[in-house]
Amino acid sequence: MEKPIYLDYNATTPVAPEVAEEMWPYIQNHFGNPSSNSGIGRHNKEAIEKARMQVANLIGAFPGEIIFTSGGTESNNHAIRGAVFVNLEKGKHIITSQVEHPAVTEVCNYLENQGCEITWLPVDAFGKVNPADVEKAIRPDTVLITIMHANNEVGTIQPVKEIGEIAKKHGVLFHTDAAQSVGKIETDVNEMGVDLLSIAGHKLYAPKGIGALYIRNGMKLENLIFGAGQERGLRPGTENVPYIVALGKACELAGENLDTNNRHLFETRQRLLDGLKEKCRTTIQLNADLNNCLPNTLSIAFEKVDAHTLASLVSKKVLFSTGSACHANSVEISPVLKAMQVNPLTAAGTVRISTGKYTTKDEIDQAVEIISETVNKLV
Ligand SMILES: Cc1ncc(COP(=O)(O)O)c(C=O)c1O
Repeated sequence: MEKPIYLDYNATTPVAPEVAEEMWPYIQNHFGNPSSNSGIGRHNKEAIEKARMQVANLIGAFPGEIIFTSGGTESNNHAIRGAVFVNLEKGKHIITSQVEHPAVTEVCNYLENQGCEITWLPVDAFGKVNPADVEKAIRPDTVLITIMHANNEVGTIQPVKEIGEIAKKHGVLFHTDAAQSVGKIETDVNEMGVDLLSIAGHKLYAPKGIGALYIRNGMKLENLIFGAGQERGLRPGTENVPYIVALGKACELAGENLDTNNRHLFETRQRLLDGLKEKCRTTIQLNADLNNCLPNTLSIAFEKVDAHTLASLVSKKVLFSTGSACHANSVEISPVLKAMQVNPLTAAGTVRISTGKYTTKDEIDQAVEIISETVNKLV
């Protein structure tokens, strides 16, 4: 059976062959403990430090500002909890947005239960936070602003540079969840003015279960877990060398090919949208402003079409996500679309199609045929 065309790169990416090749010797041969002084241990320590430099280079950081984690979720947890717990004397107020990934919202909910106060900033119809709202929300006891770089569902890019400037002006720490942006668009910690930034390996062609956290030099952070001294004592535990090597290589590749990949993502998404608009006999509504959006992400609603029905009818041939979750007898609209005040019918018709560096024009043309044929049967 032929494999379906994969258009769900925001959910996860395949591991790049160059990345798999780079990590393989660390699974097969180089098993030494990086903390031991033996030759094989030292080799692995050096491999980790090389990867740290590769990650740092991609985001304009110093290698010493990077720690390796198990992924975006852990990085977000560590950044938010770590920054709040170390600053309890200053206060317990956190500013975030209503369109964050659960790896941020659930940490904020947990902290709220622990006595913190959270300001959940609203967004506009395209899911964008207004920097003026961030400034207005700052109080003397505000310890952290956590606002994502780019949204996983609709692709909207937040005005992080402006928010970074506001945070700096008021002396408030600023964390951004960059799980979706790193590797797709330019992500520079100094340009953005962030103190903390989360990276998820499996969104940029590294394996699942590896990520990194950028921690600006001089910043103090409480630990999530305790143990020996690995990762400057901040993230103890014997390092996952093969996956760290993989993340390093993935970041190196992303940096080398950022412009080419960016253009390719943009072109494949445009071809997809143009094709769907031409062939579908229903109105297509865009949920994001494509001039301020990840180049690969297309969140659209087909009028009078239920997204789940569409996705399941084409699922053997094309894979993508929907903007709502289907439960026993109800459809639950995603909190992101809710915050954008997308009407329930549009939300129920919303699909997220996300292209990747391996998406071909031929795949796009086939996907257009398959999706439009099914949409036209449903309207
Ligand atoms: C914006 C965003 N943040 C965090 C995560 C979680 O990352 P991980 O799956 O590596 O824990 C994801 C993954 O879907 C994401 O899209």
